[in-house]
Amino acid sequence: MDDQAFAIADDGVDPRSVPGRTLYDGAEMPAIGLGTFGSDRFTPEQIAQAVIGAASVGYRHFDCASVYGNEDMIGGAFRRIMEGGLGRDELWITSKLWNDKHSEGDVIASCEKSLADLQLDYLDLYLTHWPFPNYHAPGCDVDSRSPNAQPYIHENFMRTWSRMEELVSRGMVRHIGTSNMTVPKLKLLLRDAEIKPACNEMELHPHFQQGELFRFVVDNGIVPIGFCPIGSPTRPDRDKTAADTVDIEDPVIVRIAERLGVHPAVVCVKWAVQRGQIPIPFSVHRNEYLGNLRSVVSNPLSDDEMSEIESIDRNCRLIKGQVFLWKDGQTWEDLWDLNGEITPG
Ligand SMILES: NC(=O)c1ccc[n+]([C@@H]2O[C@H](COP(=O)([O-])OP(=O)(O)OC[C@H]3O[C@@H](n4cnc5c(N)ncnc54)[C@H](OP(=O)(O)O)[C@@H]3O)[C@@H](O)[C@H]2O)c1
Repeated sequence: MDDQAFAIADDGVDPRSVPGRTLYDGAEMPAIGLGTFGSDRFTPEQIAQAVIGAASVGYRHFDCASVYGNEDMIGGAFRRIMEGGLGRDELWITSKLWNDKHSEGDVIASCEKSLADLQLDYLDLYLTHWPFPNYHAPGCDVDSRSPNAQPYIHENFMRTWSRMEELVSRGMVRHIGTSNMTVPKLKLLLRDAEIKPACNEMELHPHFQQGELFRFVVDNGIVPIGFCPIGSPTRPDRDKTAADTVDIEDPVIVRIAERLGVHPAVVCVKWAVQRGQIPIPFSVHRNEYLGNLRSVVSNPLSDDEMSEIESIDRNCRLIKGQVFLWKDGQTWEDLWDLNGEITPG
Protein backbone atom coordinates (compact mmCIF):
# COMPACT_ATOMS: atom_id res chain seq x y z
CA MET A 1 0.00 0.00 0.00
CA ASP A 2 1.23 3.47 -0.87
CA ASP A 3 2.17 5.19 2.39
CA GLN A 4 1.22 8.57 1.00
CA ALA A 5 -2.31 7.59 -0.03
CA PHE A 6 -3.78 8.57 3.36
CA ALA A 7 -1.96 11.74 4.21
CA ILE A 8 -1.04 12.43 7.82
CA ALA A 9 -1.70 16.01 8.95
CA ASP A 10 1.41 18.19 9.05
CA ASP A 11 1.31 18.32 12.84
CA GLY A 12 0.44 14.61 13.16
CA VAL A 13 2.58 11.63 14.11
CA ASP A 14 4.01 9.16 11.60
CA PRO A 15 2.31 5.87 12.55
CA ARG A 16 5.53 4.05 11.75
CA SER A 17 7.16 5.85 14.69
CA VAL A 18 4.50 4.67 17.16
CA PRO A 19 5.80 1.62 19.04
CA GLY A 20 4.02 -1.70 18.71
CA ARG A 21 3.36 -4.56 21.13
CA THR A 22 3.94 -8.11 19.98
CA LEU A 23 1.26 -10.69 20.76
CA TYR A 24 2.10 -14.32 21.47
CA ASP A 25 1.48 -15.30 17.86
CA GLY A 26 3.88 -12.65 16.57
CA ALA A 27 1.20 -10.15 15.47
CA GLU A 28 1.91 -6.55 16.35
CA MET A 29 -0.59 -3.98 17.58
CA PRO A 30 -0.04 -0.26 18.14
CA ALA A 31 0.97 0.62 21.70
CA ILE A 32 -1.80 3.23 21.98
CA GLY A 33 -5.39 3.29 20.72
CA LEU A 34 -8.35 5.65 20.72
CA GLY A 35 -11.21 4.78 23.08
CA THR A 36 -14.70 5.18 21.64
CA PHE A 37 -17.03 5.12 24.65
CA GLY A 38 -18.73 8.52 24.75
CA SER A 39 -19.68 8.24 28.46
CA ASP A 40 -23.16 9.56 27.58
CA ARG A 41 -21.58 12.95 26.77
CA PHE A 42 -20.85 12.70 23.07
CA THR A 43 -23.00 11.59 20.17
CA PRO A 44 -22.06 8.71 17.87
CA GLU A 45 -21.52 11.32 15.12
CA GLN A 46 -18.99 13.20 17.25
CA ILE A 47 -17.13 10.01 18.07
CA ALA A 48 -17.10 8.87 14.42
CA GLN A 49 -15.67 12.27 13.52
CA ALA A 50 -13.00 11.83 16.20
CA VAL A 51 -12.09 8.44 14.69
CA ILE A 52 -11.48 10.08 11.32
CA GLY A 53 -9.59 12.94 12.96
CA ALA A 54 -7.48 10.55 15.00
CA ALA A 55 -6.60 8.48 11.92
CA SER A 56 -5.52 11.66 10.16
CA VAL A 57 -3.08 12.52 12.96
CA GLY A 58 -1.62 9.00 13.04
CA TYR A 59 -3.79 6.72 15.20
CA ARG A 60 -4.15 3.21 13.80
CA HIS A 61 -5.79 1.43 16.74
CA PHE A 62 -9.44 1.87 17.78
CA ASP A 63 -11.17 0.32 20.79
CA CYS A 64 -14.86 -0.28 19.99
CA ALA A 65 -17.71 -2.23 21.61
CA SER A 66 -21.28 -3.03 20.64
CA VAL A 67 -22.55 -1.63 23.96
CA TYR A 68 -21.13 1.81 23.19
CA GLY A 69 -24.02 2.15 20.74
CA ASN A 70 -21.98 3.80 18.02
CA GLU A 71 -20.41 1.01 15.96
CA ASP A 72 -22.66 1.77 12.97
CA MET A 73 -21.46 5.38 12.85
CA ILE A 74 -17.84 4.37 13.43
CA GLY A 75 -18.23 1.90 10.55
CA GLY A 76 -18.91 4.87 8.29
CA ALA A 77 -15.73 6.49 9.60
CA PHE A 78 -13.68 3.37 8.85
CA ARG A 79 -15.13 3.23 5.34
CA ARG A 80 -14.13 6.83 4.73
CA ILE A 81 -10.65 6.22 6.12
CA MET A 82 -10.17 3.23 3.84
CA GLU A 83 -11.67 5.03 0.84
CA GLY A 84 -9.03 7.66 1.62
CA GLY A 85 -6.42 5.03 0.84
CA LEU A 86 -5.57 3.38 4.14
CA GLY A 87 -5.39 -0.41 3.91
CA ARG A 88 -7.41 -2.58 6.29
CA ASP A 89 -4.15 -4.22 7.31
CA GLU A 90 -2.85 -0.87 8.56
CA LEU A 91 -5.63 -0.60 11.14
CA TRP A 92 -6.07 -2.44 14.43
CA ILE A 93 -9.75 -2.66 15.34
CA THR A 94 -11.07 -4.19 18.54
CA SER A 95 -14.68 -4.88 19.48
CA LYS A 96 -16.34 -6.62 22.41
CA LEU A 97 -19.08 -9.12 23.14
CA TRP A 98 -21.68 -7.61 25.47
CA ASN A 99 -22.80 -9.45 28.56
CA ASP A 100 -26.28 -10.42 27.43
CA LYS A 101 -24.80 -12.24 24.42
CA HIS A 102 -22.82 -14.97 26.17
CA SER A 103 -25.19 -17.76 25.13
CA GLU A 104 -23.73 -20.18 22.62
CA GLY A 105 -26.25 -19.09 20.01
CA ASP A 106 -25.50 -15.39 20.42
CA VAL A 107 -21.73 -15.07 20.21
CA ILE A 108 -21.33 -15.56 16.46
CA ALA A 109 -24.39 -13.43 15.68
CA SER A 110 -23.12 -10.61 17.91
CA CYS A 111 -19.77 -10.59 16.20
CA GLU A 112 -21.49 -10.63 12.81
CA LYS A 113 -23.51 -7.59 13.86
CA SER A 114 -20.38 -5.71 14.99
CA LEU A 115 -18.65 -6.58 11.72
CA ALA A 116 -21.65 -5.38 9.72
CA ASP A 117 -21.93 -2.16 11.73
CA LEU A 118 -18.21 -1.49 11.54
CA GLN A 119 -18.24 -2.37 7.80
CA LEU A 120 -15.38 -4.82 8.21
CA ASP A 121 -14.58 -8.36 7.05
CA TYR A 122 -12.71 -9.20 10.23
CA LEU A 123 -11.75 -7.79 13.62
CA ASP A 124 -8.18 -7.75 14.85
CA LEU A 125 -9.34 -8.44 18.38
CA TYR A 126 -12.65 -9.50 19.93
CA LEU A 127 -13.00 -9.40 23.71
CA THR A 128 -15.49 -10.73 26.19
CA HIS A 129 -16.44 -7.37 27.71
CA TRP A 130 -17.08 -8.82 31.19
CA PRO A 131 -16.90 -12.38 32.51
CA PHE A 132 -20.48 -12.10 33.84
CA PRO A 133 -23.41 -12.93 31.56
CA ASN A 134 -25.61 -10.35 33.25
CA TYR A 135 -27.75 -7.92 31.33
CA HIS A 136 -28.25 -4.39 32.51
CA ALA A 137 -29.68 -1.53 30.53
CA PRO A 138 -27.12 0.95 29.20
CA GLY A 139 -26.96 4.00 31.45
CA CYS A 140 -28.82 2.37 34.33
CA ASP A 141 -28.14 3.41 37.92
CA VAL A 142 -25.42 1.52 39.84
CA ASP A 143 -28.05 0.30 42.30
CA SER A 144 -30.03 -1.50 39.61
CA ARG A 145 -29.78 -5.31 39.61
CA SER A 146 -30.82 -7.90 37.09
CA PRO A 147 -33.23 -10.47 38.58
CA ASN A 148 -31.48 -13.11 36.45
CA ALA A 149 -27.96 -12.12 37.44
CA GLN A 150 -25.49 -14.98 37.82
CA PRO A 151 -22.07 -15.33 39.43
CA TYR A 152 -19.09 -16.35 37.32
CA ILE A 153 -19.65 -19.98 36.37
CA HIS A 154 -16.53 -21.28 34.68
CA GLU A 155 -18.24 -24.04 32.68
CA ASN A 156 -20.61 -21.49 31.21
CA PHE A 157 -17.83 -19.03 30.45
CA MET A 158 -15.93 -21.80 28.64
CA ARG A 159 -19.00 -22.44 26.46
CA THR A 160 -18.89 -18.76 25.52
CA TRP A 161 -15.14 -18.96 25.03
CA SER A 162 -15.38 -21.93 22.66
CA ARG A 163 -17.65 -19.79 20.46
CA MET A 164 -15.05 -17.04 20.66
CA GLU A 165 -12.52 -19.63 19.45
CA GLU A 166 -14.87 -20.52 16.62
CA LEU A 167 -14.80 -16.88 15.50
CA VAL A 168 -11.07 -17.31 14.94
CA SER A 169 -11.47 -20.55 12.96
CA ARG A 170 -14.18 -18.89 10.85
CA GLY A 171 -11.78 -16.03 10.05
CA MET A 172 -14.11 -13.42 11.56
CA VAL A 173 -11.55 -12.33 14.15
CA ARG A 174 -7.77 -12.60 14.25
CA HIS A 175 -7.37 -12.66 18.03
CA ILE A 176 -9.58 -13.14 21.05
CA GLY A 177 -9.18 -11.80 24.53
CA THR A 178 -10.83 -10.87 27.79
CA SER A 179 -11.71 -7.79 29.80
CA ASN A 180 -12.43 -7.15 33.47
CA MET A 181 -10.91 -10.48 34.51
CA THR A 182 -9.12 -11.44 37.73
CA VAL A 183 -6.11 -13.70 38.32
CA PRO A 184 -8.15 -16.75 39.46
CA LYS A 185 -10.53 -16.48 36.50
CA LEU A 186 -7.65 -16.11 34.06
CA LYS A 187 -5.88 -19.13 35.59
CA LEU A 188 -8.91 -21.31 34.81
CA LEU A 189 -9.23 -19.88 31.32
CA LEU A 190 -5.55 -20.47 30.57
CA ARG A 191 -5.93 -24.05 31.84
CA ASP A 192 -8.95 -24.84 29.67
CA ALA A 193 -8.76 -22.65 26.56
CA GLU A 194 -7.73 -24.06 23.22
CA ILE A 195 -6.90 -20.54 22.09
CA LYS A 196 -5.56 -18.55 25.00
CA PRO A 197 -6.42 -14.86 25.31
CA ALA A 198 -4.02 -12.62 23.40
CA CYS A 199 -4.93 -9.51 25.39
CA ASN A 200 -6.68 -8.62 28.62
CA GLU A 201 -8.34 -5.21 28.81
CA MET A 202 -8.32 -3.91 32.37
CA GLU A 203 -8.65 -0.66 34.28
CA LEU A 204 -5.17 0.86 34.57
CA HIS A 205 -4.14 4.38 35.57
CA PRO A 206 -1.61 5.82 38.03
CA HIS A 207 -4.05 5.57 40.95
CA PHE A 208 -5.04 2.01 39.99
CA GLN A 209 -2.02 0.09 38.80
CA GLN A 210 -3.20 -3.48 39.56
CA GLY A 211 0.36 -4.71 40.04
CA GLU A 212 -0.49 -8.35 40.70
CA LEU A 213 -2.88 -8.77 37.77
CA PHE A 214 -0.60 -6.75 35.50
CA ARG A 215 2.37 -9.01 36.27
CA PHE A 216 0.28 -12.17 35.93
CA VAL A 217 -0.96 -11.09 32.52
CA VAL A 218 2.49 -10.14 31.24
CA ASP A 219 4.13 -13.28 32.69
CA ASN A 220 1.57 -15.38 30.80
CA GLY A 221 2.26 -13.77 27.44
CA ILE A 222 -0.98 -11.78 27.45
CA VAL A 223 -0.80 -8.12 26.39
CA PRO A 224 -2.46 -5.74 28.89
CA ILE A 225 -4.70 -3.04 27.42
CA GLY A 226 -5.43 -0.26 29.92
CA PHE A 227 -8.83 1.41 29.99
CA CYS A 228 -9.59 4.70 31.76
CA PRO A 229 -5.87 5.53 31.38
CA ILE A 230 -6.45 9.13 32.50
CA GLY A 231 -8.68 8.09 35.38
CA SER A 232 -11.76 8.83 33.30
CA PRO A 233 -12.20 12.31 34.81
CA THR A 234 -15.47 12.93 32.99
CA ARG A 235 -17.06 9.52 33.47
CA PRO A 236 -20.80 9.47 34.17
CA ASP A 237 -21.78 10.61 37.67
CA ARG A 238 -23.23 7.16 38.34
CA ASP A 239 -19.65 5.81 38.19
CA LYS A 240 -18.31 8.31 40.76
CA THR A 241 -18.08 7.84 44.54
CA ALA A 242 -16.87 10.21 47.25
CA ALA A 243 -13.84 7.99 47.89
CA ASP A 244 -12.58 8.12 44.30
CA THR A 245 -9.29 9.93 43.76
CA VAL A 246 -8.35 12.05 40.74
CA ASP A 247 -5.18 11.03 38.90
CA ILE A 248 -4.77 14.27 36.96
CA GLU A 249 -4.79 16.28 40.22
CA ASP A 250 -2.07 14.19 41.85
CA PRO A 251 0.89 16.46 42.72
CA VAL A 252 3.37 13.99 41.18
CA ILE A 253 1.49 13.91 37.87
CA VAL A 254 0.96 17.68 37.92
CA ARG A 255 4.65 18.37 38.57
CA ILE A 256 5.80 16.13 35.71
CA ALA A 257 3.20 17.75 33.46
CA GLU A 258 4.59 21.18 34.34
CA ARG A 259 8.12 20.04 33.51
CA LEU A 260 6.96 18.75 30.12
CA GLY A 261 4.57 21.64 29.45
CA VAL A 262 1.65 19.26 28.85
CA HIS A 263 -1.73 18.53 30.45
CA PRO A 264 -1.53 16.00 33.33
CA ALA A 265 -3.67 13.64 31.20
CA VAL A 266 -0.78 13.34 28.78
CA VAL A 267 1.55 12.23 31.58
CA CYS A 268 -0.86 9.41 32.45
CA VAL A 269 -0.83 8.20 28.83
CA LYS A 270 2.93 8.48 28.55
CA TRP A 271 3.46 6.57 31.79
CA ALA A 272 1.11 3.82 30.58
CA VAL A 273 2.99 3.18 27.36
CA GLN A 274 6.34 3.31 29.09
CA ARG A 275 5.17 0.85 31.75
CA GLY A 276 4.14 -1.61 29.04
CA GLN A 277 0.34 -1.51 28.86
CA ILE A 278 -1.57 -0.26 25.83
CA PRO A 279 -3.62 2.79 26.88
CA ILE A 280 -6.80 3.59 24.98
CA PRO A 281 -7.51 7.20 25.99
CA PHE A 282 -10.75 8.70 24.81
CA SER A 283 -11.21 12.22 23.49
CA VAL A 284 -13.15 13.88 20.71
CA HIS A 285 -10.91 16.97 20.93
CA ARG A 286 -8.13 17.11 18.36
CA ASN A 287 -5.62 18.86 20.62
CA GLU A 288 -6.18 16.18 23.27
CA TYR A 289 -5.99 13.04 21.14
CA LEU A 290 -3.05 14.48 19.23
CA GLY A 291 -1.27 15.38 22.48
CA ASN A 292 -1.85 11.87 23.78
CA LEU A 293 -0.36 10.32 20.63
CA ARG A 294 2.60 12.69 20.57
CA SER A 295 3.49 11.75 24.13
CA VAL A 296 4.25 8.24 22.93
CA VAL A 297 6.97 9.34 20.53
CA SER A 298 8.60 12.05 22.66
CA ASN A 299 11.42 11.72 25.21
CA PRO A 300 10.62 9.11 27.86
CA LEU A 301 9.94 9.88 31.51
CA SER A 302 13.03 9.48 33.68
CA ASP A 303 13.52 6.40 35.85
CA ASP A 304 12.90 8.59 38.91
CA GLU A 305 9.63 9.85 37.44
CA MET A 306 8.53 6.31 36.65
CA SER A 307 9.32 5.30 40.26
CA GLU A 308 7.48 8.31 41.62
CA ILE A 309 4.37 7.43 39.62
CA GLU A 310 4.63 3.82 40.74
CA SER A 311 4.52 5.10 44.34
CA ILE A 312 1.23 7.03 43.95
CA ASP A 313 -0.94 3.95 43.38
CA ARG A 314 -4.12 4.46 45.45
CA ASN A 315 -5.77 1.13 44.59
CA CYS A 316 -8.68 3.27 43.41
CA ARG A 317 -10.92 1.23 41.13
CA LEU A 318 -13.32 3.54 39.27
CA ILE A 319 -15.38 1.06 37.23
CA LYS A 320 -16.59 -1.09 40.09
CA GLY A 321 -19.23 -3.07 38.22
CA GLN A 322 -21.94 -2.99 40.91
CA VAL A 323 -24.68 -3.74 38.38
CA PHE A 324 -23.25 -7.25 37.89
CA LEU A 325 -23.75 -8.32 41.51
CA TRP A 326 -25.97 -11.36 41.66
CA LYS A 327 -27.37 -11.52 45.19
CA ASP A 328 -28.37 -9.29 48.07
CA GLY A 329 -25.85 -8.24 50.66
CA GLN A 330 -22.89 -8.17 48.29
CA THR A 331 -20.47 -5.32 47.72
CA TRP A 332 -18.67 -4.55 44.50
CA GLU A 333 -15.46 -6.08 45.90
CA ASP A 334 -17.15 -9.49 45.48
CA LEU A 335 -16.79 -9.12 41.72
CA TRP A 336 -13.02 -8.87 41.88
CA ASP A 337 -11.94 -12.04 43.75
CA LEU A 338 -9.84 -10.00 46.17
CA ASN A 339 -8.83 -12.95 48.35
CA GLY A 340 -7.40 -14.83 45.38
CA GLU A 341 -10.35 -17.17 44.85
CA ILE A 342 -13.42 -16.82 42.68
CA THR A 343 -16.25 -15.50 44.84
CA PRO A 344 -18.67 -18.41 45.19
CA GLY A 345 -22.24 -18.13 44.00
N1 LIG B 1 -13.34 -2.85 28.78
C1 LIG B 1 -14.07 -2.07 29.56
O1 LIG B 1 -14.86 -2.56 30.41
C2 LIG B 1 -13.93 -0.58 29.46
C3 LIG B 1 -14.42 0.24 30.50
C4 LIG B 1 -14.26 1.62 30.39
C5 LIG B 1 -13.64 2.17 29.27
N2 LIG B 1 -13.19 1.36 28.24
C6 LIG B 1 -12.51 1.91 27.05
O2 LIG B 1 -11.48 2.79 27.49
C7 LIG B 1 -11.64 4.06 26.86
C8 LIG B 1 -11.08 5.16 27.72
O3 LIG B 1 -11.75 5.22 28.99
P1 LIG B 1 -12.54 6.51 29.45
O4 LIG B 1 -13.02 7.23 28.26
O5 LIG B 1 -13.52 6.10 30.47
O6 LIG B 1 -11.46 7.36 30.27
P2 LIG B 1 -10.10 8.13 29.97
O7 LIG B 1 -9.58 7.83 28.62
O8 LIG B 1 -9.25 7.86 31.16
O9 LIG B 1 -10.58 9.65 30.08
C9 LIG B 1 -11.19 10.28 28.99
C10 LIG B 1 -11.38 11.75 29.27
O10 LIG B 1 -10.13 12.36 29.59
C11 LIG B 1 -10.05 13.65 29.03
N3 LIG B 1 -8.83 13.74 28.22
C12 LIG B 1 -8.37 12.85 27.29
N4 LIG B 1 -7.19 13.27 26.79
C13 LIG B 1 -6.92 14.46 27.37
C14 LIG B 1 -5.87 15.39 27.24
N5 LIG B 1 -4.81 15.18 26.44
N6 LIG B 1 -5.93 16.54 27.99
C15 LIG B 1 -6.97 16.77 28.83
N7 LIG B 1 -7.99 15.92 29.00
C16 LIG B 1 -7.97 14.77 28.28
C17 LIG B 1 -11.27 13.87 28.15
O11 LIG B 1 -12.14 14.77 28.82
P3 LIG B 1 -13.03 15.82 27.98
O12 LIG B 1 -13.92 14.99 27.12
O13 LIG B 1 -13.74 16.59 29.03
O14 LIG B 1 -12.07 16.63 27.16
C18 LIG B 1 -11.89 12.49 28.04
O15 LIG B 1 -13.29 12.51 28.01
C19 LIG B 1 -13.14 4.14 26.58
O16 LIG B 1 -13.45 5.13 25.62
C20 LIG B 1 -13.42 2.73 26.12
O17 LIG B 1 -13.03 2.55 24.77
C21 LIG B 1 -13.32 -0.01 28.34
